[in-house]
Amino acid sequence: MPSLKIDVRTSAIGSPDLVTFFVKGSPLPPGVPAPEFDGAPCSTVLLRDKNQRTLVVGLGEKDKIEPDTLRRAAGAGIKQLLKAGSAEVALDMGAYANHTGPAVEGAVLASYLFEGFGKDTGKKTRGVLARLQILVKEKELVAARAQARDAEVVATISNTIRGIGNLPGNMLTPPILAEKAQELAQGRALTVKVWNEQHLMRDGFGGILAVGRGSVNPPRLIVLEYHGGGKRETPVALVGKAVTFDTGGISIKPGAQMDEMKWDKMGGLAVLGILLAAADLKLPLNLVGLIPSAENMPGPDAYRPGDIITTRDGKTIEVLNTDAEGRIIIADAIAHARLTYKPSAILEYSTLTGAVVMALGHYRAGMFTAEEKLRDAFVAAGKVTGELVWPLPVDEEYKEGVQSEVATVKNIGPREGSACISASFVKTWAEETPFVHFDIAGTAWTTKPPAHLEGGATGFGLRLTIQALRAGLPV
Ligand code: BES
Ligand code: MN
Ligand code: ZN
Repeated sequence: MPSLKIDVRTSAIGSPDLVTFFVKGSPLPPGVPAPEFDGAPCSTVLLRDKNQRTLVVGLGEKDKIEPDTLRRAAGAGIKQLLKAGSAEVALDMGAYANHTGPAVEGAVLASYLFEGFGKDTGKKTRGVLARLQILVKEKELVAARAQARDAEVVATISNTIRGIGNLPGNMLTPPILAEKAQELAQGRALTVKVWNEQHLMRDGFGGILAVGRGSVNPPRLIVLEYHGGGKRETPVALVGKAVTFDTGGISIKPGAQMDEMKWDKMGGLAVLGILLAAADLKLPLNLVGLIPSAENMPGPDAYRPGDIITTRDGKTIEVLNTDAEGRIIIADAIAHARLTYKPSAILEYSTLTGAVVMALGHYRAGMFTAEEKLRDAFVAAGKVTGELVWPLPVDEEYKEGVQSEVATVKNIGPREGSACISASFVKTWAEETPFVHFDIAGTAWTTKPPAHLEGGATGFGLRLTIQALRAGLPV
């Protein structure tokens, strides 16, 4: 992808197309046809002035303007101008310099589009954003530049993981994901280790191995470390499910929409993105990222219902449905985080259950934690980033649903409350470590994109978590 140049200035240079923002009820800019434009959020009017376009984007009512209002409005503006063929755009942030970060994020996120392969979808006629100028008043320059720089880092990495996320299962297997993680860590202050089957076997990762057995594409565990804090400071551990394709295995899924299970790796990609962004932003803390990756396939050597698996810390799982595979690979990774790193907290991201989609739809992710301070920190970070979460319960009582006669737990329980039961299943491996589980099954990809995104992978969790870490995680 050609690189995008972003600068924050007091006036535009060259002749970029211009995005200006408009608050409901203020006097209409000259040339705007009044009845058609009322300034509703993300509504637009395109004005042409010789070669230079001006796009007016509505923000809605003044007292309802939030960071996400500018993020979406800037995204809507960029998308429309790119469709019109623009390559250079200036955002007039004069009145909204305090929202420079969200606007840059929205613009950069909106500039990403998955184009597919070898087919002229018509999407390719879209302009490529080469230069973005942010126009602010002199006295806002310094603060706006700092916001723009950080927003650019996070949104660019978000686009990178969305790009990997949108790759289909044949192009993105666990070994390929591991290679991509290694490539992306190059030149950054990150270490990556990739564990192959022999290594996983040696150290007792029975869960990752079991789930990966049905596929010719072998499983991997990707371990990333970032040291931005003191040598003796305990790290925060991040764990993310990266099932590169989930057929359900022997308990195979119905055919309809099964293709969507290429996005069953987005939790792992969120963790990869968080580590990359933490390094680029030089966050003053230590992080470890654990990404268990497998392809869940039926096959002659696939794991089966009835199998009993021993995980990394010796706890056992009775497999009653091979389609409940995410929790099995996550169990291994959480145990490894706990035993090897003794982290101050474990944050875990998975497209874990259809049930959370039934409960919350596609607007918010489910957040399951017993830690009130962590819960509040992520609710607050959601408001800033627009990556919204909602607390759901993970009481010990839910574990009754997965009590097994023959193992520590079984991998499915009753349908009623199954998002909570699944959360309590994975929490078992965290033991006493403060633990937050994000079930991103409804938010990891979208078919009805908001104004700053396109259909496909959303990158959900990355921007949320970076915001929470920067605000100072209460651990
Ligand atoms: N990856 C799926 C969960 C999922 C479903 C994500 C829909 C996004 C959209 C997970 O591995 C799965 O198959 N879960 C099953 C568990 C069941 C077999 C107990 C589910 O939720 O139906
Ligand atoms: Mn499954
Ligand atoms: Zn899955």
